[in-house]
Amino acid sequence: MKHYTSIQDIDSLPNWIQEARALKAAPKAFKNLGADKTICLLFFNNSLRTRLSTQKAATNLDLEVMVMNFGSEGWALEYEDGTIMDQGTSEHIKEAAQVVSQFCDIVAIRAFATLTDKEKDEAELVLNGFKKYTSIPVVNMESSVGHPLQALADAITISEQNTKARPKVVLSWAPHPKALPHAVANSFTEMMLKQEADFVITHPEGYELNPEITKDATIEYNQEKALENADFVYVKNWSSYKDYGKVINQDKNWMMTKEKLGSAKFMHCLPVRRNVVVEDAVLDSDQSIVIAQANNRTYAAQIVLKKILEHLI
Ligand code: CP
Repeated sequence: MKHYTSIQDIDSLPNWIQEARALKAAPKAFKNLGADKTICLLFFNNSLRTRLSTQKAATNLDLEVMVMNFGSEGWALEYEDGTIMDQGTSEHIKEAAQVVSQFCDIVAIRAFATLTDKEKDEAELVLNGFKKYTSIPVVNMESSVGHPLQALADAITISEQNTKARPKVVLSWAPHPKALPHAVANSFTEMMLKQEADFVITHPEGYELNPEITKDATIEYNQEKALENADFVYVKNWSSYKDYGKVINQDKNWMMTKEKLGSAKFMHCLPVRRNVVVEDAVLDSDQSIVIAQANNRTYAAQIVLKKILEHLI
């Protein structure tokens, strides 16, 4: 595998999950694979889990790690061809991406959706700009439309916690005061559609995700009905896709509660706003597996880096 920019880059999900779980049991089993190689982590947006877990995964493989908060410390990049750069941008992606490739062997990028321009967000200017102009593998640490490292960690977590041949997994929208991107919900949906699971998405009308992504998923607007007999409930806010980037409803009744959760396991990618998205009683209960999810971010990143390094050798 050269790049990991979407979960479509996974050739065999069951094998990857099995290998990731083996890495979790023996994180240093391939400790020389990254020797004399460097990964550069470029953050155009904030992070806690992605930053630390990807560094940890790289270190477990003996990769050297360079981290740059590009969003606050780098030059403002230009992505359009033929632009007269006499406004706010200082450096073109063509030079920046080629320069980065000289200093490292893998580049990982976090660049969220702007939520102001659907067409530009879906073009994935930052991620695809680097992919186009670097000569080295590119890893997506959350882009405008996807968060494939998170979705892989989620699949690993479900495989560890699941007791059924075909569990019921529900992705439930929740209220949030700010407009949030669709990336986590998109990648989780794509991941669940690849799994042996009864997968249901529930949200208020108007919060439909990109229909290209959800076309094979069941959508149920009645949250109570969607949650019936659920084994795993993944809660996440996202802004409107149709009325792009807008918060059209903050209905508090969609917050996840212990009563609604029933006997299901509670999942969330974190960070999460307590008593807005989910009540304390859920997060502080044994049914919450959010810390296990965050822990599995290391092994999701490590299996991705291992596959890329094996391709480089
Ligand atoms: N879930 C996740 O990506 O966390 P961070 O934004 O803290 O990296």
